[in-house]
Amino acid sequence: MVSIDIQKRVAIVTGASSGIGLATARLLTAKGARVALVSRSKDTLERISKELPSSLALPADITKENTIRRMVEQTKEHFGRIDILINNAGQGYDAPIEKTNITTFRYIFELDVVGQLIAMQEVIPIMRSQGGGSIMNVSSGTALMYLPTMGAYSSAKRALVGISLTAREELKRDNIVVSVVYPYITLTNFQENTMTDSVGEWEGGGSYHPADTAEYVAQKILEGVESGEAEIFAHDWMREL
Ligand SMILES: NC(=O)c1ccc[n+]([C@@H]2O[C@H](COP(=O)([O-])OP(=O)(O)OC[C@H]3O[C@@H](n4cnc5c(N)ncnc54)[C@H](OP(=O)(O)O)[C@@H]3O)[C@@H](O)[C@H]2O)c1
Repeated sequence: MVSIDIQKRVAIVTGASSGIGLATARLLTAKGARVALVSRSKDTLERISKELPSSLALPADITKENTIRRMVEQTKEHFGRIDILINNAGQGYDAPIEKTNITTFRYIFELDVVGQLIAMQEVIPIMRSQGGGSIMNVSSGTALMYLPTMGAYSSAKRALVGISLTAREELKRDNIVVSVVYPYITLTNFQENTMTDSVGEWEGGGSYHPADTAEYVAQKILEGVESGEAEIFAHDWMREL
């Protein structure tokens, strides 16, 4: 397994305006990385960028192909290289399969799968020409389970696992390490940003473990980038799901 030293590396973190992405951008910066901060919220990114030495605010919508390509180009132009991609931007959608809105389903796949794939395609040649790199794709513990109303979201996160672990095999010879992380329920804006067509008949399932902080998940992501492990589980018990 190839491991990576974070110091002085250049990282792109998508979804860096909030939650897991913001905590990861802060942690990578604290470890000496230079970070391109990506999300749709220009003002928020510019404010965060002032806090994080050597960071770059890069407003971009991850559902727009040309914008993703430009985000990678601009990062390369600004920093001269790209060592780490944290493919984290994402959104949830709650709906029973029968009531799943097809437009919303397509949106979720554009954001949670296609956008991540395009970002990978853009950084791979750059990383290859530099002799290697690290790509960390943020999936979800729901990709390991079959939970009512989570069909669209969890299948998108499963698709991301398939893409990630296939790319991992393909890119071994280029010294590019692709990993996937499965966060458990994490205290971020995720729940309030989750779209819904659920009428409430599935509510009240509850969770059996306390939720994690974004900082906890960021630490897992950092350890995963450093170790190059294929799959990073927020908790060991998730390996048995
Ligand atoms: N929180 C959980 O319980 C949990 C559990 C498992 C997995 N996850 C995954 O963890 C990742 C991060 O989520 P989070 O919990 O940190 O939620 P969050 O606080 O809602 O953050 C989501 C981030 O994604 C960005 N984003 C959303 N749509 C975007 C778009 N079209 N283009 C660019 N950026 C976009 C948001 O920024 P803007 O609004 O500024 O664009 C924000 O920075 C997601 O992939 C999520 O599926 C979360």
